Amino acid sequence: MPSIRHLISIDDLSLAEMLALFERAREFAGEPKNWSHLCPGRISATLFYEASTRTRLSFESAMLRLGGGVITAADMRMSSASKGESLADTVRVVGGAYADILVLRHPSEGAARLAAEFSSVPVINAGDGSHEHPTQTLCDLYSLWIEHGRIEGLDVVLAGDLRYSRTIHSFAYALARFGANIICVPQSGFEMPEYMVRRLREEFAVEPVRANASRLGELASASDVVYLTPQKPHQLSLFTDARGFNVERVDAVYMTRPQTERHTAQDGQTKTDYLQLGKRAMSADSLRDAVVMHPLPRREEISSDLDADPRSIYFKQASRGVPIRMAILGSLLGELDALSGRPAARNPVFPVQVGDNPCLNPTCIAHTEDRHVTPKVELASAFPPRVACAYCSNEIPVGAVGCSTTGHFHAPSSRELRKIRPDHMVFFRDAAQAQALGFASAARPSSVSERS
Ligand code: NCD
Repeated sequence: MPSIRHLISIDDLSLAEMLALFERAREFAGEPKNWSHLCPGRISATLFYEASTRTRLSFESAMLRLGGGVITAADMRMSSASKGESLADTVRVVGGAYADILVLRHPSEGAARLAAEFSSVPVINAGDGSHEHPTQTLCDLYSLWIEHGRIEGLDVVLAGDLRYSRTIHSFAYALARFGANIICVPQSGFEMPEYMVRRLREEFAVEPVRANASRLGELASASDVVYLTPQKPHQLSLFTDARGFNVERVDAVYMTRPQTERHTAQDGQTKTDYLQLGKRAMSADSLRDAVVMHPLPRREEISSDLDADPRSIYFKQASRGVPIRMAILGSLLGELDALSGRPAARNPVFPVQVGDNPCLNPTCIAHTEDRHVTPKVELASAFPPRVACAYCSNEIPVGAVGCSTTGHFHAPSSRELRKIRPDHMVFFRDAAQAQALGFASAARPSSVSERS
């Protein structure tokens, strides 16, 4: 039996599959009312543990347009979650007899991955904390593809709260894979997380370079701009002077809202500090042909004086959520052939064999829902070992690496690690933890010479 396809991360789709989804979405958008023969008798369940307007309603509209039905728990505080029911149990009950596909939004990073472990039907991640929002990204990429006819080689500004916006995270990975250039214009203090920049560099060969963004005018005036490009360094050197890479013109500005509901006390910011995009900022020559995008809801980060500007496509972008979600639902339900390929490969994932849950992110599902979670790490790179929580993707510092068969542990820089099979590796915070858990240091002076 083929394994179930879920959509948890944008990494789950190959580029060819994304393009096939865009083609289907374009067909659906042309004649939205002609497709009720595709999914009759199928039911989707929307399980939303967090507020939503567009994502939930566009998913429900998409399912109805495909001829299917919808059951919805729009406010999980009204469900048995308020009686202490776990996400894992909810998913086990709703997926199957009640519904053929689950659309889940949850405030904890990694929630959709956990749900997929327990679900007998496809799970779609409709936003998990500040982690990922892959279907919004498909909507965003689809918009770029419609507006510009391509994604490769576009210069896309990502602006605002790059740290906590899940839409930015999924979008940045996808843009890098499509070969687009990313210009990061973060709200000060809300830069793209380090682990993301490292991953973009190591897995997608994206080079971060300092940028001279003076041509972007007001848009970039209060920000340290970073240019992330899949171009080869030798090509870059042609355009880079002492002030960094010259950003001359851009194709899209993707603005995001400060994700205040996820900010911590340390993020304490005053409202007046937030970036704002208005007519004046968009008058810079470099932005002449740039479309203005936003996943919505917006607050003050895009002023309403831009609404009538033909470059503003944020409402069109939101309406495209319906055809793209029709393509996603139809494909995951097996009624369309857009996902005929194999799921894109993931890094190896290992359960943590000993020790406590090593994830340092307190809002990860592996902490907030620990009843049903076996902590797992994902091996992002084996030498030197770089591991991330398999649920929330946050990096986990590794101070020592053990081998489950020999019972020895090594320093992360040790060449000996090359001899250990990745699935025999055991990761520790430090040597003390390794010892406390019964592993012996491999770096001790040779016991043979000591004994003889
Ligand atoms: C986004 C989200 O929920 O992450 N909204 C959406 O799904 N369109 C963006 C946001 O809330 O800022």
